[in-house]
Amino acid sequence: MRVCSIVGARPQFVKAAVVSRKIRDVGEETLVHTGQHYDEEMSDVFFEELDIPEPEYNLGVASDTHGRQTAAMITRLEPVLESVQPDAILLYGDTNSTLAGAIVGSKRDATVAHVEAGLRSGNREMPEEINRILTDHASELCFAPSEAAVGNLAAEGISEGVFWTGDVMYDALLEARDRSSEASSILSELGLREGEFVLATVHRQRNTDVRSNLASIVDALVDAPLPVVFPAHPRTVDRLQAYGLWERATEELEVIEPQGYLDFVRLLDAAERVATDSGGVQKEAFFLETRCVTLREETEWEETVDAGWNQLVGSDPARIRAALAADWYPNSHPRPYGDGLASRRIVSLLQRELDVADPDRRL
Ligand code: UD1
Ligand code: UDP
Repeated sequence: MRVCSIVGARPQFVKAAVVSRKIRDVGEETLVHTGQHYDEEMSDVFFEELDIPEPEYNLGVASDTHGRQTAAMITRLEPVLESVQPDAILLYGDTNSTLAGAIVGSKRDATVAHVEAGLRSGNREMPEEINRILTDHASELCFAPSEAAVGNLAAEGISEGVFWTGDVMYDALLEARDRSSEASSILSELGLREGEFVLATVHRQRNTDVRSNLASIVDALVDAPLPVVFPAHPRTVDRLQAYGLWERATEELEVIEPQGYLDFVRLLDAAERVATDSGGVQKEAFFLETRCVTLREETEWEETVDAGWNQLVGSDPARIRAALAADWYPNSHPRPYGDGLASRRIVSLLQRELDVADPDRRL
């Protein structure tokens, strides 16, 4: 089988790392990087640490408005797919790179498969929610990380080609956890002790591009009962500077560069709790049993809230302060995101479904 995998943003590198390896065990893969994330610490470091093969194509699209960025990806992707002629096009998550792949891929004679299908926040103001919905509807195969995601797809009339595989980020984390505690010296580099700091990440459009929301988050983090370590996304650095919040943030919080995956996992594992608006970090916190304060009003990962590991507080400073200060304890630890074998399952299903779609393909 010939698979073309399309990635472009940080969380997609983490997800693709585990799946790419499995694809290359049984077939051919062409990896396309759209260029959406391009800084060394947002891209290269993941390829090096996670041993992801060098992409055969980099579309070099970089940052722009949603429309222009997605359009440039579509324009540059089409000739690549024309030349590669893959049997399947593999898409991850909910970024503009995912949507571009869905639009070009669904009009070609190839099977479009979506990893992390069926997630819904219910908030259509999030660009990611639109990307998720459109990508699922353009895909022939939907690999859902949870049972709830399968239900979300069914509610939208998508039931054929849907498989509950588990979550590939769980596979990635299981591989990284032990490695990170051996390989990472980030705690000593930053002078931190296990359980004695809060980790924070912020990058959602609603939190970065509305000054009052970003200011409220900084105010609340400054009041946290423990020191706050804040690996800042470039978008957030840019907004903190533009809004005149940079000095306060850097004086009161430990603002550091975005971290490589192993250092980040080490920080997340060791943190007393985490405050974040990231999708992936909410889940990883749950896997690592670190309590999570989510700086959003809703989540695609409801199971983490139901199990008591995650509190949704939006950007309201009083609610953030309360969730960071209060003693709250999770009541259970279910495993709604599979068994750590999602990537293996996805590759087997892909092979099987391609054989069914075109039995002559293997001849
Ligand atoms: C994107 C995804 C989001 C995902 C996130 C992961 C979309 C719509 N959003 O958001 O779903 O959660 O990636 O991190 O696809 N920038 C740099 N260097 C980089 C990359 C970005 O400086 O390497 C800055 C640029 O100023 C850019 C801004 O960050 O304008 C936003 O980058 P972009 O990729 O558009 O969106 P993210 O916020 O990263
Ligand atoms: N991550 C990282 N370094 C950081 C912040 C996050 O390696 O400084 C990893 C994190 O462990 C997770 C992924 O990046 O695997 C999440 O990416 P992000 O929060 O950017 O996007 P989202 O998951 O919200 O789409």
